[in-house]
Amino acid sequence: MTDTPFMSGPPSGGASGGTSGAGTRRVALVTGAAGGLGREFAVALAARGHRIAGLDLADMSGTGELVGDAFHPVRADVTDPEEVEAAVQETADRFGGLHIVVNNAGIYPPLEFEDTALEDWRRIMRVNLDGPFLVARAALPHLKAAGWGRIVNIASAVVFLGPPDLVAYTTSKAGLVGFTRALASAVGAHGITVNAIAPGLTRTATAARTTGADGGFERVRDLQVVRAVAEPGDLVSTLLYVCGEGSGFLTGQTINVDGGSAMH
Ligand SMILES: NC(=O)c1ccc[n+]([C@@H]2O[C@H](COP(=O)([O-])OP(=O)(O)OC[C@H]3O[C@@H](n4cnc5c(N)ncnc54)[C@H](O)[C@@H]3O)[C@@H](O)[C@H]2O)c1
Repeated sequence: MTDTPFMSGPPSGGASGGTSGAGTRRVALVTGAAGGLGREFAVALAARGHRIAGLDLADMSGTGELVGDAFHPVRADVTDPEEVEAAVQETADRFGGLHIVVNNAGIYPPLEFEDTALEDWRRIMRVNLDGPFLVARAALPHLKAAGWGRIVNIASAVVFLGPPDLVAYTTSKAGLVGFTRALASAVGAHGITVNAIAPGLTRTATAARTTGADGGFERVRDLQVVRAVAEPGDLVSTLLYVCGEGSGFLTGQTINVDGGSAMH
């Protein structure tokens, strides 16, 4: 098999490059790739021909089996600056660069506001906000060196809905929306876009254990315009669109993919 060389500069045709770079192979780092949405994203990006590093604390062998040789697992905690730096460097060394970062690792424990200890609050902020900050900061030199990059932050539709048992989580994801906007401004001149995807409640194992338990999936489904429970695959086309070669003019945006439960 002949390898298509990785692109080190921007494709021709301005910020978007039109559709000329449609088949370009890139290197992507997906955090939280052991299961759920992260696994789905890793598989989808690999199917587009990209090489994928998965970063997670949990075992990623299931994702590795699905993706095959294009997958490289790196065990790291997104809240640990040294582990994140090392994981990003390992990815760039393994695949010869880095172009796409999907900040997907996150936690969303349901918590009554008055029962939320300061340590609960801080832990949610550490994983959901410090994590994307540390990963993006470590990745940036590599994206700048390539003169092309896509940073995608997985936020949540709760930002627009404000559910009562997810105050800390909603706050963290709203912070991620602000991070997306300001970082987009900071790195736009380098051919790097930064966008967020805000999923509604989606059927993953973690969601089934927590927010989706006790009929939660059905309650949320009935609030949506689209009367179906979202599956991880329902987010893939938006991820591929945001990461696409032709999407260089799309930046600083939060795209809500929640079956129309919140419209903005
Ligand atoms: N499933 C949903 O309904 C839903 C809806 C909106 C947004 N989201 C967001 O999508 C993302 C993925 O959700 P999911 O349902 O697939 O959850 P998930 O629990 O299946 O996946 C999250 C992954 O992140 C990893 N992780 C957690 N803390 C980490 C850390 N400190 N360092 C490294 N890895 C860590 C976990 O091991 C896990 O593999 C999260 O950011 C979540 O907030 C999910």
